[in-house]
Amino acid sequence: MTLEWVPRDNGSKDHILIGSEHWGTEAPCTVYEKKPLTSPDGKEIPGLYVAWIRLNNPKQYNSYTTEMVKGVIAGFSAASADRSVVAAIFTGTGDKAFCTGGNTKEYAEYYSQRPSEYGEYMDLFNGMVDAILNCKKPVICRVNGMRVAGGQEIGMACDLAISSDLAIFGQAGARHGSSPDGGSTDFLPWFLSMEDAMWNCISCEMWSAYKMKAKTLISKAVPVLKQGDKFIRNPLIITDTYVKDGEIVYGEYKTGAEAKEAKEMMKELPVDFELLDKEINKAVWTFANLFPGCLIKAIDGIRAKKKFFWDQSKLANRHWLMANMNYEAYLGFNAFNTKKITGKDTIDFIKWRQLIAEGAPAIPETFAKVLGTPQQ
Ligand SMILES: CC(C)(COP(=O)(O)OP(=O)(O)OC[C@H]1O[C@@H](n2cnc3c(N)ncnc32)[C@H](O)[C@@H]1OP(=O)(O)O)[C@@H](O)C(=O)NCCC(=O)NCCS
Repeated sequence: MTLEWVPRDNGSKDHILIGSEHWGTEAPCTVYEKKPLTSPDGKEIPGLYVAWIRLNNPKQYNSYTTEMVKGVIAGFSAASADRSVVAAIFTGTGDKAFCTGGNTKEYAEYYSQRPSEYGEYMDLFNGMVDAILNCKKPVICRVNGMRVAGGQEIGMACDLAISSDLAIFGQAGARHGSSPDGGSTDFLPWFLSMEDAMWNCISCEMWSAYKMKAKTLISKAVPVLKQGDKFIRNPLIITDTYVKDGEIVYGEYKTGAEAKEAKEMMKELPVDFELLDKEINKAVWTFANLFPGCLIKAIDGIRAKKKFFWDQSKLANRHWLMANMNYEAYLGFNAFNTKKITGKDTIDFIKWRQLIAEGAPAIPETFAKVLGTPQQ
């Protein structure tokens, strides 16, 4: 006897929660694309796909607007629930930036002095990090250029990072009026040593892809500059020497005449992501040739350690970030947003500390003393 008599529903159910309404093609927007899975010899595999979620706002270094945040959430939830998708790739448009975080124009002109509104925005932001960490497909950050501030945070939420060797990595919050609390304070100490995490998080220094490879933030830094038919490594960065005069110099920026020469050379060379995409495909092909259930179980097991701190902190951070929109964020983001008017992209930090030392109140008259003034 067989079990054919047991009633069954053999139709197919759609588990995708959000439709395509938050995706677009014209910047600023998030682009969602399903590309065929391809084998290492370039053959398309029928019925299987890779979901590409692309931040598309290149003029503003792929910073995410409110609508783009919704697009990212929709993207990762679609990739997660689409049974034909093998892996998700998170990237940005162009070769300058993966992402430089939240859109400082929106932050300055709309969200500063509207803390409740920013609280609603932070719920979306937290939803974006959660959408990456909850995607039931492996997520690769294809770092096509600088990964800074909130860009670094959403990049670190991904499972792996494979980077253009022109990319730089760092935080900007303490300089522009926020705290890197959207993931960096939780994730950086896992990736780097505590000492490096601390300095990278607070100093706002930008570290090269090679330095971040050496310090284990990313899986690989891949050459993208083409000289004739050969790829060359980023000429601005020291990659052929590990120690000089007792200091580790691998991954540091060249200086002086060497840097000048490198910059001149770079102006002439085209950027080509062929090798970067080959590396991405190699990782995706590895995933495709594993049991999907065992794969995502292992991934979720590692993600759980990232989530440990993120889940504990994200709600309290949301409330602090919201309140701060009336205070340091008002100053920092407005200073950055008015740099073409004042000629300066930060406040006068020393004056601000002197005013605090005098017990000055946080009122517009005090703020006016540290923001730049319009240049004639
Ligand atoms: C990333 C960064 C260090 C790069 O510096 P840089 O190479 O000197 O480049 P610029 O600052 O000139 O940025 C290039 C353009 O992108 C814009 N841009 C960069 N990041 C942006 C952002 N997050 N939101 C909106 N616009 C942004 C700049 O305003 C500038 O526009 P312009 O050409 O009209 O002047 C710097 O742009 C920066 O600190 N950005 C803000 C990061 C931030 O505070 N994010 C929000 C917190 S999550």
